[in-house]
Amino acid sequence: MSQEAMLEVRDLHTHFFPRRGIVKAVDGVSFSLHLGEVLGLVGESGCGKSVTALSVLQLLPGESARTVGGQVLLDGEDLLLKSKKQMREIRGHRIAMILQDPQTSLNPVFTIGNQLSEILVKDNEKTGGGVLQQAVEALRKVKLAAPETRVRQYPHQLSGGMKQRVVGAIAMSRAPDVLIADEPTTALDVTIQLQYLQLLKELQAETDMAILF
Ligand SMILES: Nc1ncnc2c1ncn2[C@@H]1O[C@H](COP(=O)(O)OP(=O)(O)OP(=O)(O)O)[C@@H](O)[C@H]1O
Ligand SMILES: [Mg+2]
Repeated sequence: MSQEAMLEVRDLHTHFFPRRGIVKAVDGVSFSLHLGEVLGLVGESGCGKSVTALSVLQLLPGESARTVGGQVLLDGEDLLLKSKKQMREIRGHRIAMILQDPQTSLNPVFTIGNQLSEILVKDNEKTGGGVLQQAVEALRKVKLAAPETRVRQYPHQLSGGMKQRVVGAIAMSRAPDVLIADEPTTALDVTIQLQYLQLLKELQAETDMAILF
């Protein structure tokens, strides 16, 4: 493709520095992703797919992991040079993520409606009933059944597949340019996996975002 990439990773190196030695988890990875494109990172377990995704988002675990080389260009700007504050802004708004286990992405003590509203309020500076209605609409978009009921429920009252749809709704509510989905379906059973991938494909066609799997 000739037009400039939305996300371009160039010669990325991310290493772990345990007490002794060094683990070169990502050692020279390059790829580019355009709007409207879906790109899958494939490879055996432990080859560095998750660490690549976390490097792009700068959500590497703890002190022991560091990106030591390369560039992560979002629309031409190197994310590796951004401050923590700038990255918080970018995550969620420009790059959204869906992780493998919806359990870790949802807060068990807040209702689904609360968790969606929190984002909608932040983004639109709206309050009150309008926001809950928007949350219902967001859930409808990801084809969650009975969204009016679901907004008032807590994560533990939903199935795994339903929770992952909520995570999808949260990610999509920001209209991101890039969606990073690190094995978003491995916690789901096979028929639900297919439905979820189909849903992501439909949402992608509607919004023209780029998806990295
Ligand atoms: N916290 C850590 N400390 C040290 N090494 C780690 C840590 N997390 C991951 N690694 C190493 O980084 C490498 C890449 O791991 P990563 O999780 O990216 O693999 P993956 O390709 O996502 O695998 P899977 O398909 O199983 O999810 C592995 O060799 C792993 O041992
Ligand atoms: Mg992984």
